[in-house]
Amino acid sequence: MRAIQIDRYGGPEVIVHRELPIPTPGPGELLIRLAWSGINFMDIHTRQGKYANSRTYPQSLPTTLGIEGAGTIEAIGSGVVGFHAGDRVAYCLAWGSYAEFAVVAAWRVVPVPDALPLDLAAASMFHGLTAHYLANDLGKLGPGVSCLILSASGGIGQLLVQLGVRLGATVYATTSSEAKAEVARKHGAAAAFLYDNGRFADTVRELTGGRGVDVVFDPVGKPTFRDSLRAARKKGLVVSLGSVGGSIHDIDPIELGEAGSLFLTRPRLADHLTDAETIRRRAADIFTALLDGSLSLQIAGRYALEDVTRAHEDLEGRRSVGKPIIQIS
Ligand SMILES: NC(=O)c1ccc[n+]([C@@H]2O[C@H](COP(=O)([O-])OP(=O)(O)OC[C@H]3O[C@@H](n4cnc5c(N)ncnc54)[C@H](OP(=O)(O)O)[C@@H]3O)[C@@H](O)[C@H]2O)c1
Repeated sequence: MRAIQIDRYGGPEVIVHRELPIPTPGPGELLIRLAWSGINFMDIHTRQGKYANSRTYPQSLPTTLGIEGAGTIEAIGSGVVGFHAGDRVAYCLAWGSYAEFAVVAAWRVVPVPDALPLDLAAASMFHGLTAHYLANDLGKLGPGVSCLILSASGGIGQLLVQLGVRLGATVYATTSSEAKAEVARKHGAAAAFLYDNGRFADTVRELTGGRGVDVVFDPVGKPTFRDSLRAARKKGLVVSLGSVGGSIHDIDPIELGEAGSLFLTRPRLADHLTDAETIRRRAADIFTALLDGSLSLQIAGRYALEDVTRAHEDLEGRRSVGKPIIQIS
């Protein structure tokens, strides 16, 4: 089978195209014939070696890139119940989806409704389940709650804006360009504006009568983090969910006190997808919303397996709006 691997960490030049044997599912595992794979910043972080010492996401080299996909079940390992060959399925947070086949632990795999195209299923697992726990479990978004979403036209950002609006929260959005801000407005953001060298925090204060928002979702990291603290209300919550712009290495807890006794969390999806029931519940909510039209997902680009390097360059170059995916079969 064709697979995209890395043998060492680094830039797009470390990506290697390989022919590998089709793997065999062990006990509790499924072999999935992949139709589509999502492309995520997490793949870039994996390639760069950011998880080389991670306990949450342990890695060893060589590794096949890609952490989410959708396709059909090709073979079933011993002890697996409830799945049949040919079932349409999707999953996330198991490495190896930039390939024609992947072996995945069955508890991570969810059924895909007949009416949902497999490209949408692949595109919505990782970002959809992330937006789901951020909006519901961490942000507790709802009427009377205000939030600020950075990088609001990105893969997570677009879904988070829509979920926040659906839940009845007041959603403010910030992005690097006017075109990206317009995407957030179309999804119902109460206001969308540019980072403007950190002045987004002042804009939030003006819009909230000086108070600041209840929750800030920041996937950017170093360039925006301190202004995100300024955008939060006293005793508000700052969710540092990623570091696409660079990691934060220099935070002293006293800063949280000075910023208004803030709560800061650096969550990981793995800790919010710890069992099959939770994964199925979150995925079912996202799939249902996609099917009834109350949630829309923008595919940023459809790449061939051969074009993975270009896909990574596009994502790192901030050219993506929405979610890029790879067509595999
Ligand atoms: N904590 C969790 O559970 C969790 C789960 C999934 C992903 N994440 C993390 O969230 C972050 C975003 O992931 P994503 O997959 O949703 O990607 P994404 O939002 O589609 O990321 C791309 C966007 O990031 C923004 N960005 C800001 N600074 C950038 C830079 N220096 N280089 C490239 N892009 C930059 C760009 O939007 P603008 O141009 O508008 O800034 C770009 O469009 C990643 O760090 C990822 O690891 C965390």
